[in-house]
Amino acid sequence: MTVAPLLTRDQLDQVLRTAVRAPSVHNTQPWLFELRGDALHVRVDPDRQLPVEDPLGRELRLSCGAAVDHARLSVRGLGLACEVDWTPSSEDPDHVATVTVTGPLSTTDEERQLLDAVLLRRTDRSAYAPTTVPADVVDALVAAGRHDGAHVTAEQDHDRVLALEGVVARADTSLRRDEEVHREMAAWVRTSSRPADGLPAGALPDHGAGRGSSLALRDFEPVPPAATAPTTAGDDPPVAEHPLLLVLSTDTDSPEDWARAGAALSRVLLTATAAGLVVNPQTSALEVTGLRWQLVEELALSGRPQMLLRVGYPQGPGSPPSGRRPVGEVLRPPVPERAGSPA
Ligand SMILES: Cc1cc2nc3c(=O)[nH]c(=O)nc-3n(C[C@H](O)[C@H](O)[C@H](O)COP(=O)(O)O)c2cc1C
Repeated sequence: MTVAPLLTRDQLDQVLRTAVRAPSVHNTQPWLFELRGDALHVRVDPDRQLPVEDPLGRELRLSCGAAVDHARLSVRGLGLACEVDWTPSSEDPDHVATVTVTGPLSTTDEERQLLDAVLLRRTDRSAYAPTTVPADVVDALVAAGRHDGAHVTAEQDHDRVLALEGVVARADTSLRRDEEVHREMAAWVRTSSRPADGLPAGALPDHGAGRGSSLALRDFEPVPPAATAPTTAGDDPPVAEHPLLLVLSTDTDSPEDWARAGAALSRVLLTATAAGLVVNPQTSALEVTGLRWQLVEELALSGRPQMLLRVGYPQGPGSPPSGRRPVGEVLRPPVPERAGSPA
């Protein structure tokens, strides 16, 4: 007996439209989806990996893991239950996870709130308001990061914050000097009016106008590194914001851990958005060989850091949204158009 698939074509479309709203390194959107029966297979798109900044594919898999969690939430929003299997595939090195729809299950209020946050969320690289994030909100973010085996710590001790800022500043200086990194980043900065991928120029920190944050923000400006001075506190206007700094880690450091960390990242970002906060993910310090381990040492971290997050309340209009490629580009092979019919 053939059992009808649980997801209709329209529902699949909705799930994928939510999944592609996930954050990704430089907005590369390095994911591919394939539906087999009721199993949505998520795979990396190796053509969209950053060979210079991300040679191992750690950020590639973090990005795909975030898309898996967005897809999972969207399935839940349809009133359907699903299971995520992160087990690596011996046949397919590009496999990230399989989301299997298992049957009806009512959506919870919390899931609805997170889904509402999907379209509101965006990376905000502007200066944040000088407002401290309250302890109960910090606790909610830490709890949200306890997803899929990852964990989040909030760095609030003065000395630890200084140590973290120091490592990020060293990473900033190192990346600014690297012409290959500059070339790679420049290839993802977009100046067209509605780019479908990459970083819209309007979403980047205002180069030369001061960064407004004690944490050195990644400098995306495609200028020769020799022409840019390293970040020093004296170059920038006084910093008023008090960002909350979060470290997202995993116990071990396998491709599966990276993808799971991406799913936890998705939960933290959506929880923050739902609480009226803005976030700037930061990975520059994790891209420089040596500095990632310096961070482990200086903060005495027990796990492997996967992402730093600068969190705060917005001060102005914030960054514009970045574009996404149409679902048809990431679904392989495309499902024939039969609106409303089972996929
Ligand atoms: C793995 C990963 C690494 C990222 N690293 C940085 C970073 O170092 N600096 C930064 O400003 N944004 C970083 N981002 C944010 C992306 O640039 C952002 O998600 C992408 O441009 C899409 O924009 P959106 O988040 O507004 O949807 C990162 C995101 C991911 C998933």
